[in-house]
Amino acid sequence: MTPRTDAIDVRPVTEPEFADWTRALNTGFLREPTVPDDVLDARRSQFVPGRLLGAFDGGRCVATFRSFEQELTAVGGAPVPADAVSNVTVSPTHRRRGLLTRMMTRDLAAAKDRGDVVATLIAAEYPIYGRYGFGPATWAAEWTIDVPRTGLDPRWAGPEDGGRVDLVDGEDIRKLGPELHERLRRVQPGAVSRDELWWKLATGAVRFWASWNEPFYAVYRSAAGEVEGMVVYQADDNWGDGKQPLNTASVKWLTAVTPAAERALWRYLCSIDWITRVKTGWRAPDDLLPFFLPDPRAAAITTQADWLWVRILDVVRALEARTYEAPGSLVVEVSDRGGLTGGRYLLEASEDGTGSCTPTTRSADLALEVGELATLWLGDESAVRLAALGRIREERAGAARKADALLRTSRRPWCPDVF
Ligand SMILES: CC(C)(COP(=O)(O)OP(=O)(O)OC[C@H]1O[C@@H](n2cnc3c(N)ncnc32)[C@H](O)[C@@H]1OP(=O)(O)O)[C@@H](O)C(=O)NCCC(=O)NCCS
Repeated sequence: MTPRTDAIDVRPVTEPEFADWTRALNTGFLREPTVPDDVLDARRSQFVPGRLLGAFDGGRCVATFRSFEQELTAVGGAPVPADAVSNVTVSPTHRRRGLLTRMMTRDLAAAKDRGDVVATLIAAEYPIYGRYGFGPATWAAEWTIDVPRTGLDPRWAGPEDGGRVDLVDGEDIRKLGPELHERLRRVQPGAVSRDELWWKLATGAVRFWASWNEPFYAVYRSAAGEVEGMVVYQADDNWGDGKQPLNTASVKWLTAVTPAAERALWRYLCSIDWITRVKTGWRAPDDLLPFFLPDPRAAAITTQADWLWVRILDVVRALEARTYEAPGSLVVEVSDRGGLTGGRYLLEASEDGTGSCTPTTRSADLALEVGELATLWLGDESAVRLAALGRIREERAGAARKADALLRTSRRPWCPDVF
């Protein structure tokens, strides 16, 4: 018999309960449950009244959920207000009793009331969030570069384009990084906003974990002296037999707003003495990287997976926020088991790329669930593929191909962040 859950209270967490909530969070993520005071103090800045939910059983916190304000870049560059979902855990003693469902239902309803257009999250496991109307909207890939195989000239001494690469400190990254990221996210569908805390955590100025290994920071400046890219990486210490250096550089993140910066930073990483392998960290699945190398096979994809999941809360505003690749119209019948935004909508895209979306009584071209619409919304997935898989239904022959002409983009969306 499933244990009773009606005695478990799901509600916003109060400030005095934050330590208990954080212990439950660590427990759910299989991390040491005890939280040192300094870490707790650092984490306290994320306490926003009403945005942290917990489930309490007999006074003990047994499930956690946090959401926060975010902007997600739509196709065309418009920032869309998003409800970013994070810190989702249910203690192993209380799993599969509907606690996640209760927390999620409550949070999505609040996000809808606030006027957020979408909710976003990075899923720990694929099967969890589809049931709540989320769909995978961006993917990510990680490459491992076999440096000796690249065919790059080992005598490289710096960028050939008049730019330069400089090593800097965390403080420089905190100064230069926010503006660079803003430049990226204005043009990168799928990118999300970063707050000040993000930069402090990324550079060790604020620490959420007891241990911190200072990484290396490098910046690329163009010939005009403009910062166009930066990379944060760590290296191991690994020597093979016969005194052979076999070290790996692991990129924590790399931001570049021009192909020149991107090329120079990968080139830099592949030229560091002793480094024979570069692990790229999570990149866009259509990253240019392999083609910067004379032998692109030297960069092998080691992991490829779904990344940002999106839950559309308002179909009209979501479809009007993005631009379209071609003019045309499409009627979509969107079903939403969560009851937040289902209906039949007419999407009309103009010559200038803008779109309008209105509820309609016209007959539908495509029928799909709201999560599948999220999968198509950022331009990554093909409606033709989803129809072949039986995940969406053509109500009119050729509608999936028509949807692809409107919605798909020449470059894939990408979210560089984990949150
Ligand atoms: C994922 C997690 C939060 C789910 O919480 P939960 O309270 O057990 O989920 P619920 O009881 O509300 O489950 C609702 C439904 O989702 C399913 N589900 C939940 N987690 C699932 C998982 N990891 N894999 C597959 N199905 C899952 C349940 O079986 C249930 O299905 P049903 O409605 O058909 O019966 C919990 O297992 C957990 O804390 N896992 C470890 C931490 C983690 O992965 N957090 C997510 C970070 S993004």
